[in-house]
Amino acid sequence: MAREKWGSQTGFWLAAIGSAVGLGSIWRFPYAMGGSGGLFLLIYLGAVILFGLPIFMAELAIGKKTKQGPVGAYREIAEGNYGKRMGIFQIITSLVIMSFYSLIGGYCIIYIFKIGGLAGNIIDLAAAQNLFDRISGNFWLSFWGMFVFLAISCATVVVGVKGIEKLNKYLMPALFLILFVLSINSLTLPGAAKGINFLFSFNTESFGIHCILTAIGQACFSLSIGIGVLVLFGSYCSDNNMGILKSSVIVIGADTIVSIMSAIVIFPTFFSFTNTSPSLGGLELAFMALPMVFAKMFCGALVAISFFILLLIAATASAVSLIELPVAYLMDSYGWKRWKASFCVFAVILIGGIPSIYSKSFLKGIDYFASNWMLLGCVLLLCLFLRRYWDKIGISQIIEEETGSTILASIVSFLIRYFVPIVIIALVFSNIF
Ligand code: PFF
Repeated sequence: MAREKWGSQTGFWLAAIGSAVGLGSIWRFPYAMGGSGGLFLLIYLGAVILFGLPIFMAELAIGKKTKQGPVGAYREIAEGNYGKRMGIFQIITSLVIMSFYSLIGGYCIIYIFKIGGLAGNIIDLAAAQNLFDRISGNFWLSFWGMFVFLAISCATVVVGVKGIEKLNKYLMPALFLILFVLSINSLTLPGAAKGINFLFSFNTESFGIHCILTAIGQACFSLSIGIGVLVLFGSYCSDNNMGILKSSVIVIGADTIVSIMSAIVIFPTFFSFTNTSPSLGGLELAFMALPMVFAKMFCGALVAISFFILLLIAATASAVSLIELPVAYLMDSYGWKRWKASFCVFAVILIGGIPSIYSKSFLKGIDYFASNWMLLGCVLLLCLFLRRYWDKIGISQIIEEETGSTILASIVSFLIRYFVPIVIIALVFSNIF
């Protein structure tokens, strides 16, 4: 069967932006930035350029060259089972991420329906926490929320590459529009300037090795690198519709803009109503602290519903890419039909999500473990793989042919083969000892 292809270059860009822009960009970035403000932003931008950009380009190059999903591509490049094992580890990581990601997507759906009527009751953080506890403590409500979220995402994957393209064609402009409106709303609140000042001021007190690790982990998670999604998306491109450098810059630029805009939505809003920055992150920030702040706002219910629609859109577009990874593997390696592979992946993720429904600490633990350690492990393995097979894949030649620059090719080669793996190994050691 002929390999499916993106209908257009814009379709490919939107799908890659959809994968990158997710819960990580909207709820994790502002919190990660929290203590260090502008200093974190600077380190994050450094991580995006030195880590994100070269790996993004290399993954696209592998997909473009081999025209296969990650497992097939690595197997074609490497002798023995090394490549296959790495590809399987990436797929397991995508399934683990999806097990909690889809539960959070489910919470967004529940909040969209509930928050409008309840916004008036959320007078303080305790009330917001109470609401979240009631929703997340209700097993069947959480289960069905997750079920619906997964069903929508898997149904898109069943339609195929064109389905993913079409979904993102509508969702991404909607996401940017909502984010734009929420940013304007946030910037016009009284006292917003304090939030912006905080956001862009250099706060060196909370700076440390942890801050660097957070910035690098956040950059990898937010750009969806290291896990093979970009190899897969690159393999769906026709040769004439994908410039590796141009595509990487566009997608990474869009994701970074969304992360900064999310911080612009959250910080001024917080400073305006609480005179301080949000001290809570992740689940607590999105489902407790923000609803509490929205409740104090004029037309707060509308703002809250818009925010959860924004989160839901971002989560769905990312989920679709994470689901496509195992689905493509089952199709490519075992010849399964799309619907059969999608159904099995749906079932595995749904079952894998059940422990997170039961225990919030399990949910937080698995999020931390998968998004930081497993993902950084994937990035490290990928860099070591690229280091070994750099010439065989011919990434430098691909970059040179495309950009005409041998210097750029050498810089990318140095960053991936030496800089990134050394920094990751050093950070891991410094964190352990
Ligand atoms: N980039 C997504 C986010 O910021 O939420 C998460 C993600 C999606 C990570 C796809 C990895 C991936 F392959």
